[in-house]
Amino acid sequence: MAPIDPHSFTDSTHPLTTHIALTLYFDFSSSIIHATALLTLQNPCTGPLSLDTRSLIIHKILDPETLTPLPFTISSSEHPINGRHLTVSLNNHSSILILYSTSPSSSALQWLSPPQTFKKIHPFVYTQCQSIHARSVFPCQDTPAARICYSAKLNVPRQLSTVMSARHCNHRDPVGSDLDGVLTKEATEFGFDLKSLWCEEGRVVEEFVMEQPIPPYLFAFAVGELGFREVGPRTRVYSEAVDGVLDAAAREFAGTEEMMRQAERLFGEYDWERFDLLVLPPSFPYGGMENPRMVFLTPTVIKGDASGAQVVAHELAHSWTGNLITNKNNEHFWLNEGFTTYAERRIVEVVQGEDIAALNVGIGWRGLNEEMERFKDNMEFTKLKNNQEGVDPDDVYSQVPYEKGFQFLWRIERQIGRPAFDEFLKKYIATFKFKSIDTETFLDFLKANVPGIEKEIDLQQWTEGTGIPPDAHEPVSDLYTKIVSLANDFKLGRMPREDEVCDWKGQEWELYLENLSKAVEASQVIALDARYRLSESKDYEVKVAFLQLAISSKCRDYYGEVEKTLKEVGRMKYLRPLYSGLVQGAGKDEEKILAKRVFAEARECYHPIAQGVVEAILAKHV
Ligand code: BES
Ligand code: ZN
Repeated sequence: MAPIDPHSFTDSTHPLTTHIALTLYFDFSSSIIHATALLTLQNPCTGPLSLDTRSLIIHKILDPETLTPLPFTISSSEHPINGRHLTVSLNNHSSILILYSTSPSSSALQWLSPPQTFKKIHPFVYTQCQSIHARSVFPCQDTPAARICYSAKLNVPRQLSTVMSARHCNHRDPVGSDLDGVLTKEATEFGFDLKSLWCEEGRVVEEFVMEQPIPPYLFAFAVGELGFREVGPRTRVYSEAVDGVLDAAAREFAGTEEMMRQAERLFGEYDWERFDLLVLPPSFPYGGMENPRMVFLTPTVIKGDASGAQVVAHELAHSWTGNLITNKNNEHFWLNEGFTTYAERRIVEVVQGEDIAALNVGIGWRGLNEEMERFKDNMEFTKLKNNQEGVDPDDVYSQVPYEKGFQFLWRIERQIGRPAFDEFLKKYIATFKFKSIDTETFLDFLKANVPGIEKEIDLQQWTEGTGIPPDAHEPVSDLYTKIVSLANDFKLGRMPREDEVCDWKGQEWELYLENLSKAVEASQVIALDARYRLSESKDYEVKVAFLQLAISSKCRDYYGEVEKTLKEVGRMKYLRPLYSGLVQGAGKDEEKILAKRVFAEARECYHPIAQGVVEAILAKHV
């Protein structure tokens, strides 16, 4: 057994999967998918083949040619991080057919009942597979080192629409022959007659293909009552079919094509044909997820200012850094997020100007410094490349790979100058596209293409050292400096004047609030809010930054607003600091009781990944 990824049972001596063909029957009444997966291997295999699964019931594994059963074993207990190890015994097989069902607790899937949706008529289901949740949707070698192409037939209720991180190629009635190659004649595998269900009235089959090899974490679908608007030649924005939401989303993302053109100028041609956007329900656990051809977004980014476009710029940038060049495993996650944060800011700089780009760098700088405090007893996670043996990536998710990674690339840019760095980036992307690489591969490429760089920059300290290297940098910008100095004045009791903040939007307030000392008096917090109504901001970045301040100064007047916020959104960027703020530290009995009660009441509405993350926070402190 030679593992290649601390988060996968994949064995380096086994052939990798190159293609997966899925048939998925969605049973909304039980929150289960009954499915078959046909895995094609690089080359024929004899002996054991290791696969990852979590919360899957494996009914049978068949030789796809003869439909005869293949022996398999599955670990009897679930590894708390990696799930269950499935081992199939092969005899010169280059493909296998797995018949299985997901379970309602599959960690990638959030099933929303009609009352949990905007329109409250139809159910909704969607995936979030990064980092290690694809294995709860289909058995696979769930490591980004194993890139796969896929095809999928999804059988769903006729009133619902389906989108995927793949090309849509057919919408049609189900037919019994859809299952001919995947069920034996007796068709007893599922313990019920799947064929009759498949062909029932009121069902429809949607077919998709992804012909470019992607890491499994980029597999994605969403099924619900969806509508869309065209916002550009390559872009539609989808969301629940509510005119108000669709129109607001179309306005928010109208600049997408322009960002794509700028990104192509900087990083090379866009390789994925379409760049559609899907706005999810408020429980979506991230700001955005770079699923190829169909980026997933939180509805909290629709607020009519620059920051919605910033999240789109970030997910768009992943089309090159992350989706074309992918980290080999999560220990090199900075290769995805650090490069993407750098690329995002280059796009933002062109479309929104240098001041906004500098604000974003400044917000990131603040965030990076705060992570040093969070990880002060666990400095491993202040390293770009880190050891994740026995570590759940969801538990150590932080700004470090984003912002320290950004700082590292910015440092190289300063060293060699922008024109040379731009050329280097383009060459890096062209060289490693559709590959999964590690930090060493990047460093070797850097040294080969920028001779002598290791004498100018301490590459080892940047990639393997803890903390923030001395040659990291705050942004240089008048607006940034002004806001930080106003924040420092607050400690001395000076609040910004109306004329100083009259043109501030969300990002200015966010930077201001995040730079305020956490040790401010409750009375000061109340005075600030009385003047600027930050607790009522429609912008969650501002509102949550303010509520964090209210919690740290034990300003209980705002706990009602904290509770309301925790119950209306499931984005972990907001859940983490609010729950942590409530439960961390001594003498917080009232806050701990509040956190526990709110979580018990809100839990059902969170995505399973967010449930796990909040549970971990409470378990540590309560
Ligand atoms: N790929 C990430 C989201 C992610 C990371 C999901 C790790 C699961 C595990 C995505 O590109 C991202 O970074 N989203 C940010 C957007 C922001 C940096 C503009 C987010 O969700 O906040
Ligand atoms: Zn990202």
